[in-house]
Amino acid sequence: MQQFSCVHIYIYIYTCLQLTGASSGIGASIAEHLFQEGAKVMMGARRLPQLTEVQTSAQTKYPDSPGKLAVKECDVTSEASVAELVKAAETDLGEVNVLINCAGVMCK
Ligand SMILES: NC(=O)c1ccc[n+]([C@@H]2O[C@H](COP(=O)([O-])OP(=O)(O)OC[C@H]3O[C@@H](n4cnc5c(N)ncnc54)[C@H](OP(=O)(O)O)[C@@H]3O)[C@@H](O)[C@H]2O)c1
Repeated sequence: MQQFSCVHIYIYIYTCLQLTGASSGIGASIAEHLFQEGAKVMMGARRLPQLTEVQTSAQTKYPDSPGKLAVKECDVTSEASVAELVKAAETDLGEVNVLINCAGVMCK
């Protein structure tokens, strides 16, 4: 069983993140790691099924984490969609104090 220290509790209380591009790659890995560390993370991307898969996988791997993972469909090319993501993060998790923007595509 994973042990949780006061550092994890501190992270849980004080760290609320909004993370775009969380359905795969770098964003998904960051979301999982921060959840493991006890953070509250609102994950956004266009593909909701993939977001849910990342969420479920992390929660299954770290069932004792004090962190929270929430998911919401979001397209960063739409200002309204990003505003909805912020609103959902604040409603579900609390005031957002960290933004991580991983949404993007690799140019080949
Ligand atoms: N991997 C590398 O070695 C590397 C190196 C340098 C820079 N980068 C840059 O880092 C970023 C992430 O790379 P990655 O390797 O993690 O790529 P990835 O696995 O393709 O992930 C890209 C993420 O961005 C999301 N996304 C794309 N367009 C979006 C949009 N319009 N709205 C919301 N979400 C969107 C995708 O989700 P949906 O498709 O579900 O929306 C996905 O979650 C990219 O910008 C890439 O260019 C990567």
